[in-house]
Amino acid sequence: MCGIFGFVGNTDRPTSVVVEGLKDLEYRGYDSWGVAVAAGGGVLSEKQTGKIGDAVSSLPPASASLGHTRWATHGAVTQQNAHPHLDCSGRLAVIHNGIVENHDAIRGRLQRHQFRSETDTEVVVHLLEEEMAGTAANGRSRLVTGLMSGFRQLEGLSAIAVLDGESGEIAAAKNGSPLVVGLSEEGSYLASDPVALLPHTRKLLFVEDGQAVSLDPSGTARVFEVGSGREIEPQVREVDWPVHDRTLGPFDHYMEKEINEQPAVLRRLAAEKSDDVSTLARMIEESSRVFITGCGTANNAGMAGQYLMSRIAGRQVTAVMASEMRLAGPLLDPTSLVIALSQSGETIDVLDAARLAQSRGARVAALTNSEGSSLYRLADHSILLDCGPERCVLATKTYTAKLALLVMTAYQLAGRAEEGVHAVVQGALLMEALLVEERDRGNIERLAERLADSDHIFVLGRDINYPLALEAALKIKEVSYIHAEGFASGELKHGVIALIEPGTPCIVLATEPSVLRETLAGTAEVRARGAFTVGLSPDPHPEFEAHLPMRGGGEAVLFEAAAAFQSLAYRLALRLERDPDKPRNLAKSVTVR
Ligand code: F6R
Repeated sequence: MCGIFGFVGNTDRPTSVVVEGLKDLEYRGYDSWGVAVAAGGGVLSEKQTGKIGDAVSSLPPASASLGHTRWATHGAVTQQNAHPHLDCSGRLAVIHNGIVENHDAIRGRLQRHQFRSETDTEVVVHLLEEEMAGTAANGRSRLVTGLMSGFRQLEGLSAIAVLDGESGEIAAAKNGSPLVVGLSEEGSYLASDPVALLPHTRKLLFVEDGQAVSLDPSGTARVFEVGSGREIEPQVREVDWPVHDRTLGPFDHYMEKEINEQPAVLRRLAAEKSDDVSTLARMIEESSRVFITGCGTANNAGMAGQYLMSRIAGRQVTAVMASEMRLAGPLLDPTSLVIALSQSGETIDVLDAARLAQSRGARVAALTNSEGSSLYRLADHSILLDCGPERCVLATKTYTAKLALLVMTAYQLAGRAEEGVHAVVQGALLMEALLVEERDRGNIERLAERLADSDHIFVLGRDINYPLALEAALKIKEVSYIHAEGFASGELKHGVIALIEPGTPCIVLATEPSVLRETLAGTAEVRARGAFTVGLSPDPHPEFEAHLPMRGGGEAVLFEAAAAFQSLAYRLALRLERDPDKPRNLAKSVTVR
């Protein structure tokens, strides 16, 4: 949530350095954006509402510059509320990711300052103005001393970066929200995700919670403990992470590209992850209780994992959404394991769940797509999803990557590891065939045309298809804005059936032969009330008015079904002229509670 990018060097550089960095971070929020540069002893700033897109900054080149993409929490999406926020004298510019929970109280103490926005962030810059005026430097710069003193007064989880136009210095502090420093011969960079730093440098310094940094133009940084003000040794890491191709290639959107990348991702996981899968299976085996947790799509993958572990390995793994992890808290002890799923590795609820587990002595295994992320660093064992960057805000390839690893782990636990690998490889083939068939025949496109005017769509599934139905509904609603809900088809008659009207679309995931009869009975019940039924199943059935054939079996068909509902969601978005890559109100990395 909210992207931060900054640069300090010995020579002036165009603001495109910051603007391009922000483009890499726009997945974190795209309500508005802004840049500030050090110029003439103060700061010049520019801010705009809307996505950064192909924007070019009109600010002059500078040796220190700072930028931000916003995901609004406090204050509407307006130019005034966009970051950076400036102090009264125009010397300081502050950008912020997170929430200042006590902003009202602080604002009350700063009555003599001139506030220009409705944000919680603006209190920080005026607070720093006060703190810098009254602070002796103590061998540190006045900026970093004032920042630490101000930061200690903030409640809530935040990453704050501040540019001092007078000294041309940038300092930052964090608690909860991610910040990484990149060091190079051109100078020092700051970003909320290393992805934006890799085009510039491989020398990274991950700022930990409760630390402040001051960036040096010579490509070094000083690190301090905010609590004590003490300077500590910077822990710089040289990483060899690949810079992935981030272009669209032949595709119109990243969502389409990433759906199409899934077969390659699955093949890679099947070929390369056997050691990680064995380690995870061993950790499960060694544990008395196992919980699996995540948010949103990751939670849906975790729920699927619960079914997979039960049916393949006869092993109880309990899925708990990360924001409800307190349910599991009293049950966790040093013999427990929590498997935390998170594409970004920065979702605050997942980090909270992992920390809760560790505070009770439990072990944490992580499945994440982000090497070096907070979750990656804190887990006892981290498995990388190796999907390459997922630039669309919606999770697609990282969802099926998690499913693939969970399928392989379940089979490993069952002592039938090859079957797991086979299911994933078959899944890749099935996905590929479905995507090719869609290009040739347009079955899903026609279905999208039929469903695009709907007010509501229900997705029904039983057994392993139930967690998939939840994910299908989530994909549809977040990208098309059509109200969609996933249900266990057996539950429908216990209440939800009241919502079915003539013409209500009900998509039925019916890939599982062992529950086909019950699934069809549920379909008949909604059809009898006029629903328009769409079956995803190996064979057509009279209960289905429309049918998308699923050719696979076993767990492989789950990947095929996922490609079908992801493609349907994408096509609905196009029909309704939504932006599939940046749906309204969403951000890819949710670092606030
Ligand atoms: C849905 C989606 C979100 C994320 C959720 C967790 O398409 O992307 O529901 O899955 O915000 O994010 P991570 O996996 O980064 O923890």
